[in-house]
Amino acid sequence: MLKLLEKYSNLLPVTSSTPLITLGEGFTPLIQARKIGEMLGVNLYLKYEGTNPTGSFKDRGMVMAIAKAIENGARSVICASTGNTSASAAAYAAAFDLRAIVVIPAGKIAMGKLAQAMIYGAKVVQINGNFDDCLKLVKKVSDDYPVVLVNSLNPNRIEGQKTASFEIVDVLGDSPDYHFLPVGNAGNITAYWLGYIQYQKEGKAKKLPKMMGFQAEGAAPIVRDHPVKHPETVATAIRIGNPASWKRAIAARDESKGFIGMVSDEEILKAQHLIALKEGIFCEPASAASVAGVIKMAKSGIFNGDETVVATLTGNGLKDPDVILREMDKISTIPNDISAFIKEVGF
Ligand code: F0G
Repeated sequence: MLKLLEKYSNLLPVTSSTPLITLGEGFTPLIQARKIGEMLGVNLYLKYEGTNPTGSFKDRGMVMAIAKAIENGARSVICASTGNTSASAAAYAAAFDLRAIVVIPAGKIAMGKLAQAMIYGAKVVQINGNFDDCLKLVKKVSDDYPVVLVNSLNPNRIEGQKTASFEIVDVLGDSPDYHFLPVGNAGNITAYWLGYIQYQKEGKAKKLPKMMGFQAEGAAPIVRDHPVKHPETVATAIRIGNPASWKRAIAARDESKGFIGMVSDEEILKAQHLIALKEGIFCEPASAASVAGVIKMAKSGIFNGDETVVATLTGNGLKDPDVILREMDKISTIPNDISAFIKEVGF
């Protein structure tokens, strides 16, 4: 199997003593969004991270963080999470014989993600607080106890996640003009920017993209320019009020002449449905914030039509079906009878 850590080893903190572990992460598809692109008048590509082993982009960073933890003799790892980081940490820890402790906001992570952390055997602890509270707690614990923090404050996470930029340039032959991402704890926008810069320095890309980050309106500290004490959004993955990589996200925005904006829950869910209905891809709500951002920007008239735009779909929709299934009562149940069936489907 082609290994992410091997393919990009010269651009990652991989040494001769780094174990080249893999669960098959990375090498995700860059899918041309023909119909949405045409609607908006741009060449739109979706970097679909839902095909990673635990269904989100976190696996790119986790494989690097876990490899370095093993290299340094660690026995256990800890993270705070809105769900995906915990699923990823739990999986890699299980496969490569580390203990994983994951701390989550009680009742606020999607069921699929909770199931993942549980099946992989992590020690799951819920606290009555939000993600920001969880992160504060695990930071303190990892400072005081022999356990490695695998949130994106761990630089190896960012290093691993930047490989997504490499893959995009490898496919497109250059950086896109714009790169849209959802922003939560702001590690991923930091990582992508780092990746694009590094690839340009390597001579693999001529230009750099404008980095376009989108937060949910109810959890938009960067846009509002102050921490949000009680963040709230249907996109629980980005329900974060005080992002750890806040400054680096602003640096990515400013250095790239990009933008960090916000989208409403309604815009997020509309985009999620559009991506499924038009392109056949089921992503989770937080992921759709990137495309909601593209739609918003297209409406504001920033594109002239020949730009290449990439939006990252950060996670698989199967992790979080709850909001979709709220409409389950619209599904009709009919008698087991052919004529009733024909009437129902409308032949
Ligand atoms: N999309 C998804 C699906 C996520 O799970 C996250 C973050 C983001 C976007 C935002 O990325 O934090 O790098 O800005 N999830 C973290 C977690 C916080 O705990 O799983 P970011």
